[in-house]
Amino acid sequence: MYLTKEEERMLEGEFGEAVQRAMEILVALGDIYGASRMVEITSAHISGVSYKTIGEGGLLFLKDFLALGARFKVRTTINPCGIDLDNWRSLGICDEEFYSKQKEIVECYLKMGALPSLTCTPYYGSNVPSYGEHIAWAESSAVIYANSVIGARTNREGAPSALAAAITGRTPMYGLHLEENRRGTEEVIVKTDLTCPADYGALGIYLAEQGVRVPYIRACGKAYMLKIGLKYLGASLASSGDVAMYHFEGVTPEAEKLDHEFEDKIEVGREEIEEVFERNSSEEEPELYAFGCPHLGKEELEFFLNFQPKGETWLSVGKDFYEENKELIDKLQKKGYRVISGTCFVVSPIEKRYRITATNSGKAAKYLPSFCKQKVIFRRAKDLLRR
Ligand code: F3S
Repeated sequence: MYLTKEEERMLEGEFGEAVQRAMEILVALGDIYGASRMVEITSAHISGVSYKTIGEGGLLFLKDFLALGARFKVRTTINPCGIDLDNWRSLGICDEEFYSKQKEIVECYLKMGALPSLTCTPYYGSNVPSYGEHIAWAESSAVIYANSVIGARTNREGAPSALAAAITGRTPMYGLHLEENRRGTEEVIVKTDLTCPADYGALGIYLAEQGVRVPYIRACGKAYMLKIGLKYLGASLASSGDVAMYHFEGVTPEAEKLDHEFEDKIEVGREEIEEVFERNSSEEEPELYAFGCPHLGKEELEFFLNFQPKGETWLSVGKDFYEENKELIDKLQKKGYRVISGTCFVVSPIEKRYRITATNSGKAAKYLPSFCKQKVIFRRAKDLLRR
Protein backbone atom coordinates (compact mmCIF):
# COMPACT_ATOMS: atom_id res chain seq x y z
CA MET A 1 0.00 0.00 0.00
CA TYR A 2 1.39 3.39 -0.99
CA LEU A 3 2.05 5.79 1.90
CA THR A 4 3.02 9.44 1.61
CA LYS A 5 6.23 10.62 3.30
CA GLU A 6 4.18 12.00 6.20
CA GLU A 7 2.24 8.74 6.60
CA GLU A 8 5.50 6.80 6.63
CA ARG A 9 6.78 9.04 9.40
CA MET A 10 3.56 8.44 11.32
CA LEU A 11 4.10 4.70 10.96
CA GLU A 12 7.72 4.98 12.12
CA GLY A 13 6.66 6.71 15.33
CA GLU A 14 7.90 10.21 14.59
CA PHE A 15 4.60 11.71 15.77
CA GLY A 16 4.38 9.64 18.94
CA GLU A 17 3.28 6.18 19.93
CA ALA A 18 -0.49 6.80 19.72
CA VAL A 19 -0.22 7.96 16.09
CA GLN A 20 2.09 5.05 15.32
CA ARG A 21 -0.34 2.47 16.74
CA ALA A 22 -3.27 4.13 14.99
CA MET A 23 -1.40 4.03 11.68
CA GLU A 24 -0.56 0.34 12.22
CA ILE A 25 -4.29 -0.41 12.61
CA LEU A 26 -5.13 1.47 9.40
CA VAL A 27 -2.31 -0.08 7.33
CA ALA A 28 -3.36 -3.58 8.47
CA LEU A 29 -6.95 -2.79 7.49
CA GLY A 30 -5.88 -1.35 4.15
CA ASP A 31 -3.81 -4.46 3.41
CA ILE A 32 -6.75 -6.76 4.20
CA TYR A 33 -9.09 -4.86 1.88
CA GLY A 34 -6.56 -4.20 -0.86
CA ALA A 35 -6.49 -0.40 -0.51
CA SER A 36 -4.00 1.23 -2.86
CA ARG A 37 -3.41 4.24 -0.56
CA MET A 38 -4.78 6.31 2.35
CA VAL A 39 -7.19 9.21 1.90
CA GLU A 40 -7.39 12.28 4.13
CA ILE A 41 -10.68 12.60 6.00
CA THR A 42 -12.62 15.65 7.17
CA SER A 43 -14.35 14.01 10.12
CA ALA A 44 -14.69 10.89 12.25
CA HIS A 45 -17.56 9.46 14.25
CA ILE A 46 -16.77 6.86 16.88
CA SER A 47 -18.91 4.02 18.26
CA GLY A 48 -17.90 1.88 21.23
CA VAL A 49 -18.92 4.40 23.85
CA SER A 50 -21.33 2.41 26.01
CA TYR A 51 -19.84 0.59 29.00
CA LYS A 52 -22.51 -2.06 28.44
CA THR A 53 -21.09 -2.89 24.99
CA ILE A 54 -17.32 -2.33 25.39
CA GLY A 55 -16.93 -3.33 29.06
CA GLU A 56 -13.72 -3.26 31.08
CA GLY A 57 -11.55 -4.33 28.10
CA GLY A 58 -12.74 -1.38 26.03
CA LEU A 59 -12.15 1.07 28.86
CA LEU A 60 -8.57 -0.21 29.31
CA PHE A 61 -7.93 0.05 25.55
CA LEU A 62 -9.02 3.71 25.63
CA LYS A 63 -7.00 4.51 28.74
CA ASP A 64 -3.91 3.02 27.09
CA PHE A 65 -4.37 5.09 23.95
CA LEU A 66 -4.91 8.22 26.02
CA ALA A 67 -1.78 7.54 28.08
CA LEU A 68 0.19 7.26 24.82
CA GLY A 69 -0.90 10.79 23.97
CA ALA A 70 -3.80 10.15 21.57
CA ARG A 71 -5.39 13.36 20.26
CA PHE A 72 -7.93 13.71 17.47
CA LYS A 73 -6.78 15.43 14.32
CA VAL A 74 -10.20 16.00 12.71
CA ARG A 75 -13.69 16.91 13.88
CA THR A 76 -14.78 13.86 15.90
CA THR A 77 -18.14 13.03 17.43
CA ILE A 78 -19.08 10.09 19.66
CA ASN A 79 -22.02 7.69 19.77
CA PRO A 80 -24.54 7.42 22.64
CA CYS A 81 -23.18 6.05 25.91
CA GLY A 82 -24.74 3.46 28.22
CA ILE A 83 -26.76 5.77 30.48
CA ASP A 84 -28.15 9.30 30.67
CA LEU A 85 -25.27 10.77 32.66
CA ASP A 86 -27.42 13.59 34.09
CA ASN A 87 -30.47 11.55 35.08
CA TRP A 88 -29.13 8.04 35.62
CA ARG A 89 -30.49 7.56 39.13
CA SER A 90 -34.11 8.25 38.17
CA LEU A 91 -34.00 5.70 35.33
CA GLY A 92 -33.29 2.94 37.86
CA ILE A 93 -31.40 0.69 35.43
CA CYS A 94 -27.77 0.93 36.60
CA ASP A 95 -25.73 1.16 39.77
CA GLU A 96 -23.07 3.62 40.90
CA GLU A 97 -20.26 1.45 39.49
CA PHE A 98 -21.75 1.31 35.97
CA TYR A 99 -22.25 5.08 36.06
CA SER A 100 -18.66 5.84 37.11
CA LYS A 101 -17.15 3.44 34.52
CA GLN A 102 -19.35 5.02 31.86
CA LYS A 103 -18.26 8.48 32.91
CA GLU A 104 -14.60 7.42 32.64
CA ILE A 105 -15.12 6.19 29.06
CA VAL A 106 -16.73 9.46 27.99
CA GLU A 107 -13.96 11.44 29.69
CA CYS A 108 -11.30 9.48 27.79
CA TYR A 109 -12.90 10.45 24.48
CA LEU A 110 -13.33 14.08 25.50
CA LYS A 111 -9.68 14.30 26.57
CA MET A 112 -8.69 13.03 23.13
CA GLY A 113 -10.68 15.89 21.65
CA ALA A 114 -14.11 14.46 20.86
CA LEU A 115 -17.12 16.77 20.84
CA PRO A 116 -19.57 15.86 23.63
CA SER A 117 -22.24 14.87 21.08
CA LEU A 118 -23.19 11.44 22.46
CA THR A 119 -25.48 10.79 19.53
CA CYS A 120 -25.95 8.42 16.62
CA THR A 121 -27.35 11.27 14.49
CA PRO A 122 -24.34 13.61 14.41
CA TYR A 123 -25.57 14.81 11.00
CA TYR A 124 -28.33 16.77 12.83
CA GLY A 125 -25.80 19.37 13.90
CA SER A 126 -22.54 18.44 15.56
CA ASN A 127 -20.89 16.74 12.57
CA VAL A 128 -22.36 17.49 9.15
CA PRO A 129 -20.18 16.39 6.23
CA SER A 130 -20.69 17.75 2.72
CA TYR A 131 -21.34 15.91 -0.51
CA GLY A 132 -18.26 14.03 -1.75
CA GLU A 133 -16.21 14.42 1.44
CA HIS A 134 -14.22 11.41 2.64
CA ILE A 135 -14.97 10.63 6.27
CA ALA A 136 -14.43 7.69 8.65
CA TRP A 137 -17.56 6.93 10.60
CA ALA A 138 -18.58 4.04 12.78
CA GLU A 139 -22.25 3.48 13.83
CA SER A 140 -23.95 1.72 10.94
CA SER A 141 -27.09 3.92 10.93
CA ALA A 142 -24.99 7.10 10.66
CA VAL A 143 -22.70 5.54 8.03
CA ILE A 144 -25.57 4.64 5.71
CA TYR A 145 -27.18 8.06 6.19
CA ALA A 146 -23.91 9.85 5.39
CA ASN A 147 -23.32 7.77 2.24
CA SER A 148 -26.87 7.68 0.93
CA VAL A 149 -28.62 10.89 1.98
CA ILE A 150 -25.64 13.26 2.18
CA GLY A 151 -23.37 11.70 -0.43
CA ALA A 152 -20.28 11.76 1.79
CA ARG A 153 -18.01 8.71 1.52
CA THR A 154 -17.33 6.29 4.34
CA ASN A 155 -17.00 2.58 4.95
CA ARG A 156 -18.66 0.96 7.94
CA GLU A 157 -15.83 1.52 10.40
CA GLY A 158 -15.54 -0.36 13.66
CA ALA A 159 -14.77 1.46 16.91
CA PRO A 160 -10.94 0.89 16.74
CA SER A 161 -10.60 1.89 13.06
CA ALA A 162 -12.74 5.04 13.51
CA LEU A 163 -10.58 5.93 16.54
CA ALA A 164 -7.39 5.35 14.53
CA ALA A 165 -8.75 7.48 11.68
CA ALA A 166 -9.63 10.31 14.10
CA ILE A 167 -6.05 10.24 15.46
CA THR A 168 -4.30 10.21 12.08
CA GLY A 169 -6.84 12.07 9.91
CA ARG A 170 -6.60 9.21 7.38
CA THR A 171 -8.50 6.12 6.33
CA PRO A 172 -7.62 3.42 3.77
CA MET A 173 -9.04 4.15 0.31
CA TYR A 174 -11.28 1.18 -0.56
CA GLY A 175 -14.94 0.15 -0.55
CA LEU A 176 -17.40 3.06 -0.56
CA HIS A 177 -14.62 5.64 -0.94
CA LEU A 178 -14.50 4.47 -4.57
CA GLU A 179 -17.27 5.45 -6.98
CA GLU A 180 -17.54 2.02 -8.61
CA ASN A 181 -18.69 0.48 -5.32
CA ARG A 182 -21.46 3.04 -4.85
CA ARG A 183 -23.58 1.91 -7.80
CA GLY A 184 -27.00 0.37 -7.19
CA THR A 185 -26.96 -3.42 -7.37
CA GLU A 186 -30.69 -4.25 -6.97
CA GLU A 187 -33.68 -2.42 -8.37
CA VAL A 188 -36.46 -2.21 -5.79
CA ILE A 189 -40.04 -1.29 -6.72
CA VAL A 190 -42.15 -0.26 -3.74
CA LYS A 191 -45.77 -0.68 -4.83
CA THR A 192 -47.41 0.65 -1.69
CA ASP A 193 -47.47 3.94 0.25
CA LEU A 194 -44.84 4.47 2.92
CA THR A 195 -46.98 6.11 5.57
CA CYS A 196 -44.63 6.79 8.49
CA PRO A 197 -41.06 6.13 9.77
CA ALA A 198 -41.94 2.61 10.93
CA ASP A 199 -42.96 1.64 7.37
CA TYR A 200 -39.52 2.66 6.09
CA GLY A 201 -37.93 0.60 8.87
CA ALA A 202 -40.02 -2.45 7.95
CA LEU A 203 -39.04 -1.97 4.29
CA GLY A 204 -35.37 -1.89 5.34
CA ILE A 205 -35.70 -5.16 7.26
CA TYR A 206 -37.48 -6.84 4.34
CA LEU A 207 -34.84 -5.74 1.81
CA ALA A 208 -31.92 -6.73 4.05
CA GLU A 209 -33.47 -10.17 4.36
CA GLN A 210 -33.45 -10.45 0.55
CA GLY A 211 -29.66 -9.99 0.70
CA VAL A 212 -29.46 -6.58 -1.04
CA ARG A 213 -26.07 -4.81 -1.24
CA VAL A 214 -26.75 -1.31 -2.65
CA PRO A 215 -30.52 -1.18 -3.27
CA TYR A 216 -31.92 1.40 -5.70
CA ILE A 217 -35.45 2.14 -4.50
CA ARG A 218 -38.32 3.41 -6.68
CA ALA A 219 -41.41 4.40 -4.73
CA CYS A 220 -44.54 4.03 -6.85
CA GLY A 221 -46.88 4.97 -3.99
CA LYS A 222 -46.72 8.05 -1.79
CA ALA A 223 -43.66 8.46 0.45
CA TYR A 224 -44.88 10.36 3.53
CA MET A 225 -42.44 11.82 6.10
CA LEU A 226 -39.70 10.99 3.60
CA LYS A 227 -36.88 12.98 5.18
CA ILE A 228 -37.29 11.24 8.52
CA GLY A 229 -38.17 7.92 6.89
CA LEU A 230 -34.81 7.72 5.11
CA LYS A 231 -33.09 7.63 8.50
CA TYR A 232 -35.22 4.65 9.61
CA LEU A 233 -34.83 2.90 6.27
CA GLY A 234 -31.04 3.10 6.48
CA ALA A 235 -30.87 2.05 10.14
CA SER A 236 -32.91 -1.08 9.38
CA LEU A 237 -30.99 -1.96 6.22
CA ALA A 238 -27.70 -1.64 8.08
CA SER A 239 -28.71 -3.52 11.21
CA SER A 240 -30.50 -6.37 9.46
CA GLY A 241 -27.92 -6.75 6.69
CA ASP A 242 -24.44 -5.75 5.63
CA VAL A 243 -25.65 -2.64 3.82
CA ALA A 244 -23.93 0.77 3.97
CA MET A 245 -25.55 2.61 1.07
CA TYR A 246 -28.83 2.84 -0.83
CA HIS A 247 -30.35 5.10 -3.47
CA PHE A 248 -33.87 6.52 -3.42
CA GLU A 249 -34.96 7.63 -6.87
CA GLY A 250 -35.40 11.38 -7.26
CA VAL A 251 -34.24 12.01 -3.68
CA THR A 252 -30.74 10.86 -2.75
CA PRO A 253 -27.89 12.73 -4.44
CA GLU A 254 -26.24 9.90 -6.38
CA ALA A 255 -29.43 8.14 -7.51
CA GLU A 256 -29.44 9.74 -10.94
CA LYS A 257 -25.73 10.39 -11.15
CA LEU A 258 -24.21 6.91 -11.24
CA ASP A 259 -24.45 4.13 -13.81
CA HIS A 260 -26.15 1.46 -11.79
CA GLU A 261 -25.70 -2.22 -12.57
CA PHE A 262 -28.74 -4.11 -11.34
CA GLU A 263 -28.35 -7.82 -10.76
CA ASP A 264 -31.84 -8.33 -9.40
CA LYS A 265 -35.31 -6.78 -9.23
CA ILE A 266 -37.39 -6.90 -6.05
CA GLU A 267 -41.04 -5.85 -5.66
CA VAL A 268 -42.44 -4.90 -2.28
CA GLY A 269 -46.13 -4.44 -1.48
CA ARG A 270 -48.28 -3.79 1.58
CA GLU A 271 -48.35 -7.48 2.44
CA GLU A 272 -44.56 -7.71 2.79
CA ILE A 273 -44.42 -4.61 5.02
CA GLU A 274 -47.24 -5.79 7.30
CA GLU A 275 -45.65 -9.20 7.57
CA VAL A 276 -42.44 -7.66 8.95
CA PHE A 277 -44.44 -5.93 11.71
CA GLU A 278 -46.27 -9.15 12.59
CA ARG A 279 -43.15 -11.27 12.63
CA ASN A 280 -41.32 -8.84 14.93
CA SER A 281 -44.12 -8.25 17.43
CA SER A 282 -45.04 -10.06 20.60
CA GLU A 283 -48.69 -10.23 21.72
CA GLU A 284 -47.78 -9.12 25.23
CA GLU A 285 -48.49 -5.78 26.87
CA PRO A 286 -45.44 -3.42 26.73
CA GLU A 287 -43.74 -2.35 29.95
CA LEU A 288 -41.73 0.33 28.12
CA TYR A 289 -42.55 2.43 25.04
CA ALA A 290 -39.32 3.54 23.41
CA PHE A 291 -38.77 5.92 20.50
CA GLY A 292 -35.64 7.48 19.08
CA CYS A 293 -33.60 4.76 17.37
CA PRO A 294 -31.80 6.44 15.65
CA HIS A 295 -31.94 9.54 17.85
CA LEU A 296 -34.85 11.88 17.29
CA GLY A 297 -34.67 15.23 15.53
CA LYS A 298 -36.79 18.32 16.01
CA GLU A 299 -39.63 17.47 13.60
CA GLU A 300 -40.10 14.08 15.18
CA LEU A 301 -40.21 15.50 18.70
CA GLU A 302 -42.87 17.97 17.53
CA PHE A 303 -44.82 15.01 16.15
CA PHE A 304 -44.88 13.41 19.61
CA LEU A 305 -46.54 16.55 21.01
CA ASN A 306 -49.70 15.41 19.15
CA PHE A 307 -49.89 12.23 21.23
CA GLN A 308 -50.18 11.24 24.87
CA PRO A 309 -47.48 8.96 26.28
CA LYS A 310 -48.62 5.58 27.52
CA GLY A 311 -47.12 4.50 30.83
CA GLU A 312 -43.32 4.73 30.75
CA THR A 313 -42.50 6.33 27.38
CA TRP A 314 -38.92 7.22 26.47
CA LEU A 315 -37.77 9.55 23.73
CA SER A 316 -34.01 9.29 22.99
CA VAL A 317 -32.03 12.29 21.76
CA GLY A 318 -28.38 13.25 21.47
CA LYS A 319 -26.71 15.14 24.29
CA ASP A 320 -25.85 17.97 21.89
CA PHE A 321 -29.45 18.15 20.67
CA TYR A 322 -30.84 18.09 24.23
CA GLU A 323 -28.81 21.13 25.22
CA GLU A 324 -30.04 23.10 22.19
CA ASN A 325 -33.76 22.25 22.35
CA LYS A 326 -34.60 22.60 26.03
CA GLU A 327 -37.89 24.45 25.48
CA LEU A 328 -39.34 21.72 23.27
CA ILE A 329 -38.04 19.00 25.55
CA ASP A 330 -39.63 20.72 28.53
CA LYS A 331 -43.03 20.67 26.79
CA LEU A 332 -42.70 16.93 26.12
CA GLN A 333 -41.66 16.22 29.69
CA LYS A 334 -44.67 18.17 30.99
CA LYS A 335 -46.86 15.90 28.84
CA GLY A 336 -45.40 12.88 30.64
CA TYR A 337 -42.68 11.72 28.24
CA ARG A 338 -39.25 10.91 29.61
CA VAL A 339 -36.64 12.45 27.30
CA ILE A 340 -33.33 10.64 27.75
CA SER A 341 -30.19 12.22 26.37
CA GLY A 342 -26.79 10.97 25.29
CA THR A 343 -27.89 7.34 25.50
CA CYS A 344 -30.50 5.03 23.97
CA PHE A 345 -32.67 2.14 25.06
CA VAL A 346 -30.52 -0.41 23.18
CA VAL A 347 -27.06 0.44 24.52
CA SER A 348 -28.28 1.03 28.09
CA PRO A 349 -29.08 -1.82 30.50
CA ILE A 350 -32.90 -1.57 30.29
CA GLU A 351 -33.14 -5.31 30.97
CA LYS A 352 -32.46 -4.50 34.65
CA ARG A 353 -36.00 -3.12 34.81
CA TYR A 354 -38.05 -4.01 31.70
CA ARG A 355 -38.85 -7.21 29.79
CA ILE A 356 -41.23 -6.07 27.05
CA THR A 357 -40.60 -3.00 24.89
CA ALA A 358 -42.71 -1.39 22.18
CA THR A 359 -40.94 0.65 19.50
CA ASN A 360 -41.45 2.13 16.03
CA SER A 361 -37.83 1.41 15.06
CA GLY A 362 -36.90 -1.51 12.84
CA LYS A 363 -33.31 -1.40 14.08
CA ALA A 364 -34.40 -1.51 17.73
CA ALA A 365 -36.84 -4.33 16.95
CA LYS A 366 -33.91 -6.35 15.60
CA TYR A 367 -31.45 -5.54 18.40
CA LEU A 368 -33.58 -5.44 21.56
CA PRO A 369 -34.08 -9.24 21.84
CA SER A 370 -30.34 -10.00 21.77
CA PHE A 371 -28.83 -6.84 23.31
CA CYS A 372 -31.45 -6.32 26.03
CA LYS A 373 -33.30 -9.65 26.33
CA GLN A 374 -36.56 -7.91 25.42
CA LYS A 375 -39.75 -9.17 23.90
CA VAL A 376 -40.58 -6.58 21.25
CA ILE A 377 -43.69 -4.98 19.81
CA PHE A 378 -42.73 -3.29 16.50
CA ARG A 379 -45.52 -0.98 15.35
CA ARG A 380 -46.18 2.50 13.97
CA ALA A 381 -45.91 5.23 16.63
CA LYS A 382 -49.50 6.34 16.08
CA ASP A 383 -50.71 2.80 16.75
CA LEU A 384 -48.72 2.60 19.97
CA LEU A 385 -49.66 5.96 21.50
CA ARG A 386 -52.98 7.67 22.27
CA ARG A 387 -54.01 10.85 20.46
FE1 F3S B 1 -28.75 4.96 17.83
FE2 F3S B 1 -28.98 3.35 19.84
FE3 F3S B 1 -30.45 2.98 17.73
S1 F3S B 1 -27.10 4.13 19.04
S2 F3S B 1 -29.28 3.80 16.02
S3 F3S B 1 -30.52 4.76 19.11
S4 F3S B 1 -29.38 1.41 18.83
